[in-house]
Amino acid sequence: MEALTLAELAAQARERLDPSVWDFIEGGAGEERTLAGNRAAFDRTWLRPAVLTASVPRLATTILGREWAAPVGVAPLAYHTLVHPDGELATVRAAGAAGLPVVVSTFAGREFDELAEASAAPLWLQVYCFRDRDVTRALVERAARAGFEALVVTVDAPRLGRRLRDERNGFRLPPGVRPANLPDGDYDSPSGHARTEFDPGLGWEVVDWLRGLAGLPILVKGVLGATDAERALAAGVDGIVVSNHGGRQLDGAPPTLDVLPEVAAAVSGKVPVLLDGGVRRGADVVAARALGADAVLVGRPVLHGLAAGAESGVARVLEILRDELVDVMALAGIEDLGGIGPDVVVTGGRAP
Ligand code: FNR
Repeated sequence: MEALTLAELAAQARERLDPSVWDFIEGGAGEERTLAGNRAAFDRTWLRPAVLTASVPRLATTILGREWAAPVGVAPLAYHTLVHPDGELATVRAAGAAGLPVVVSTFAGREFDELAEASAAPLWLQVYCFRDRDVTRALVERAARAGFEALVVTVDAPRLGRRLRDERNGFRLPPGVRPANLPDGDYDSPSGHARTEFDPGLGWEVVDWLRGLAGLPILVKGVLGATDAERALAAGVDGIVVSNHGGRQLDGAPPTLDVLPEVAAAVSGKVPVLLDGGVRRGADVVAARALGADAVLVGRPVLHGLAAGAESGVARVLEILRDELVDVMALAGIEDLGGIGPDVVVTGGRAP
């Protein structure tokens, strides 16, 4: 039966996936407090309608000079090939058809060239910085050659957070699931690989270094407060992603929606602000816009769609979000995204 909500698609995905793969996708770090907090923050955020303001919602927005059909993109997720052999190819096809961008992971399971050929919408590269800078350099140059339009450097992962579900399951990548754009190496254990290969000593100078590699706009992913937002601006970034890595890094980091207003105030419109973590409904997109995000990125639901129905499953995820967004905006009396101000949001009530 066709899923009507992202929760239903998640249930379909769970039925199809090996339990250890499901745990790898769903899990967070530590006791998963931050993972739960991301959702709880949306669940205690309510939307106040403006009544008797007939509206036909317009969803399109422009980010870094490119039009997005809606303020929604796909967050970087390692190894789409873990849940379906088409992997990222299916994802970029579905997103491209919907006019929405994809942030492709350093650990994508399909090659950048074939993704660029298959996509009709912007592709950005998510960058992990390795101890061996030549590996990162080659990765960035490969994406730039393929026509990727921006770099999103993940700054919350000097190593991977402890994912207890994966430790208990002894999770290893199955044979055949490997990063398609990195040199050969030992990728069996994602956390083990990160521990030996990620650069734990990264500083803000990485922004200039990355810009020098390909001249692409640089966004930082993993900012959770005004101070780091100001440092990012001082380092010359072109955009900020408010993210706690879907609760997979520092357990105890705040829910992204809760810190969004202070980041947005510090950035004050100088560069785009994106948010990820727990976005599961059209109403969540409106709440994030109201509290200062230009757009959101969606993570796990994309893998659910891919597992449940390959390219058409991902298309369904994006369609559900889009339809819900239209519905919420129409019912809340919001004509276009610019009309979503802080007064739309009511907080503090009890979550259902
Ligand atoms: C991720 N995330 C992630 N982030 C990143 O910068 N590079 C990566 O390779 C990955 N890989 C990855 C794999 C899986 C299975 C998950 C669930 C997450 C984090 C991701 O980009 C994003 O921050 C969160 O997933 C957003 O939260 P939601 O939408 O999943 O709640």
